[in-house]
Amino acid sequence: MTAHLKGLLVGCGFFARNHLHAWSEIDGAGIAAVCDRDAARSQAYGADFSVPAWQDAAAALSSGAFDFVDICTTMETHEELVALAVDNRVPVIVQKPFAPDIDTCRRIAAYAAAAGVPVMVHENFRFQKIFRRIRAILDSGEIGDLTFGRLSWRNAVDVYTNQPYVVETRRFMIMDVGIHMLDLARFLFGDAGDVSCFTQSVRPGLAGEDAATILLRHDNGATSIVDVSYAAHRYPDPFPQTLGEIEGRLGTIEIVEGGVLVIHSDGKQRRETVAADERSWTSSPWTQIQDSVPRTQQHFIDRLRAGTGFETSAEDSLKTYALAEAAYRSAESGRVVDARTL
Ligand SMILES: NC(=O)c1ccc[n+]([C@@H]2O[C@H](COP(=O)([O-])OP(=O)(O)OC[C@H]3O[C@@H](n4cnc5c(N)ncnc54)[C@H](O)[C@@H]3O)[C@@H](O)[C@H]2O)c1
Repeated sequence: MTAHLKGLLVGCGFFARNHLHAWSEIDGAGIAAVCDRDAARSQAYGADFSVPAWQDAAAALSSGAFDFVDICTTMETHEELVALAVDNRVPVIVQKPFAPDIDTCRRIAAYAAAAGVPVMVHENFRFQKIFRRIRAILDSGEIGDLTFGRLSWRNAVDVYTNQPYVVETRRFMIMDVGIHMLDLARFLFGDAGDVSCFTQSVRPGLAGEDAATILLRHDNGATSIVDVSYAAHRYPDPFPQTLGEIEGRLGTIEIVEGGVLVIHSDGKQRRETVAADERSWTSSPWTQIQDSVPRTQQHFIDRLRAGTGFETSAEDSLKTYALAEAAYRSAESGRVVDARTL
């Protein structure tokens, strides 16, 4: 591979601005061109980030000019765009949600695997500094084998102005934020099978759910609860913090507001604050999410170069998306659904 990998960013919408700023910080790679089927959007980001602007992803990907593609479009476009990249042997990082249902996720992963083209799902929450720190505490053995956890994302941020498409999305909250929490649950507790879920549509006029409560049974015997809502009113609003607790046989980690971990172990309690890094292009309240984007991208580039596979490869992500699928089917049927049987 060349010293500096040249990437194409496809999808010049709301979240892509964070991607483009973040790519400018990545060691060994950068964005060499942008693409959007909407010419005005493509040209605007091309001008802002001083790179050429394409409108046709097929033409851009077959040009031979790119070492990887960053797909930052919404989920219903991912199968077609990843296939275009695979056909041109261009490695892919693609935003979550990977695809709207598990069958589509599997088709995308299988198509890429058959061609031997690496694909990573951009799942940034596990790359937040606070969750890397929690992972290190768990690996140290301080709180022992895990028995219980709760990961909670409850706020009333106005997601509807920046992402108006969510109003019409039938699978909304579990795919939009639940998927981050399910990935975190796997990152912290390991794989899970049985899933039970209730969903709610609280805000009038939505095609899908804006709240969900999910119960998981993990392979190590731990139980976890993932609860997500865009209809929870708290002042000040805790967006975009993930709160909750993680219990082990020897202790507990509470994740409380302000990036604070309260660690209970050895008969004592201590506090650690894990603040996200502010950057010239980040701004409150988004900093925690924005700061995780370059961390996710650097992982993609480092592993792409090393050829060692991504933490959230397409293949690995199938386990996360099977949990999401099981959650929807549980909510529809009122039954516990084993994600491994889907
Ligand atoms: N990981 C996170 O923290 C995070 C946060 C926000 C959004 N997201 C995700 O990012 C993705 C993008 O969200 P957004 O709000 O920026 O969407 P958006 O609708 O604002 O932007 C998507 C852009 O993609 C373009 N596009 C669609 N199909 C295309 C094609 N075939 N070729 C070229 N351009 C095409 C559209 O014209 C649009 O400009 C979503 O999947 C969303 O869930 C992730």
